[in-house]
Amino acid sequence: MDNKDLVRHYIGEVINHKNIAAKGTAMKIGIIGAGNMGTTLGDLWIAAGHDVLYGTRASNPTSNLRARPIAEACALSDFLVLAVNYWTIESALREMGDLTGKIILDISNPFALKAGATDKHNPANFERVLPLNQTALDRNRAFTPQAVWVKAFCSLPGKVMRETHHQTPHIAIPYTAADSHAADLLSILITDAGFDPVYAGGLDKTADIELLGKLSMQPMTKAKMLELMKQA
Ligand SMILES: NC(=O)c1ccc[n+]([C@@H]2O[C@H](COP(=O)([O-])OP(=O)(O)OC[C@H]3O[C@@H](n4cnc5c(N)ncnc54)[C@H](OP(=O)(O)O)[C@@H]3O)[C@@H](O)[C@H]2O)c1
Repeated sequence: MDNKDLVRHYIGEVINHKNIAAKGTAMKIGIIGAGNMGTTLGDLWIAAGHDVLYGTRASNPTSNLRARPIAEACALSDFLVLAVNYWTIESALREMGDLTGKIILDISNPFALKAGATDKHNPANFERVLPLNQTALDRNRAFTPQAVWVKAFCSLPGKVMRETHHQTPHIAIPYTAADSHAADLLSILITDAGFDPVYAGGLDKTADIELLGKLSMQPMTKAKMLELMKQA
């Protein structure tokens, strides 16, 4: 299926995968990085019945019973989520083990702490560290091209996602993917997290959904997002 077919396949579709775990199809999800975004997504997927493990560093002991060494969490999981800070992604990928054929969801935006800043909770301390014509995904998948990359959950602040999941009407989460199986799984996981999945296109459309892209920043419904996508 090429990108255009995928767009046709996903735009306007109604996905009805509610309570997927009850249907006996829980996914094994390995979330690398148990911080703000990692635990936000993890909590939502655990509530939907998925099996979630967190890959954490030995230097960051946690009482979370789901925490595992990074390589173990990856080996035991079918769907990986890269939820570490942007500036530690290369080293995290090295610790994740053999990623050949593994699906990796990249949620990152190319922003890093300004020199001398330490407070990760103050948005003013962050600056964009890639040229505007390059996405975080371009850079990250160049480190591990043997994996199957998909992108989502980068378009809105974590705080907004925590406040709006399962809201009526649902908030849309745009995603990009080049592999139809990985796209299907991601679409299910977006639905199970309490949002409406909107396929924004192949990986070449990722700039639209990363922070500052035309589908980012403002929480909106699927109808509004599809309207925006029609505009050139
Ligand atoms: N925050 C948002 O609103 C938001 C929204 C959309 C997308 N994102 C993206 O989500 C990603 C995570 O952001 P965040 O806000 O969740 O950051 P965060 O709260 O600082 O959490 C990052 C977590 O990753 C851990 N970590 C760092 N390097 C690691 C490694 N090599 N292996 C394992 N764990 C590692 C950190 O542990 P330590 O504490 O020990 O360093 C921390 O627990 C970023 O790529 C960001 O661009 C964030």
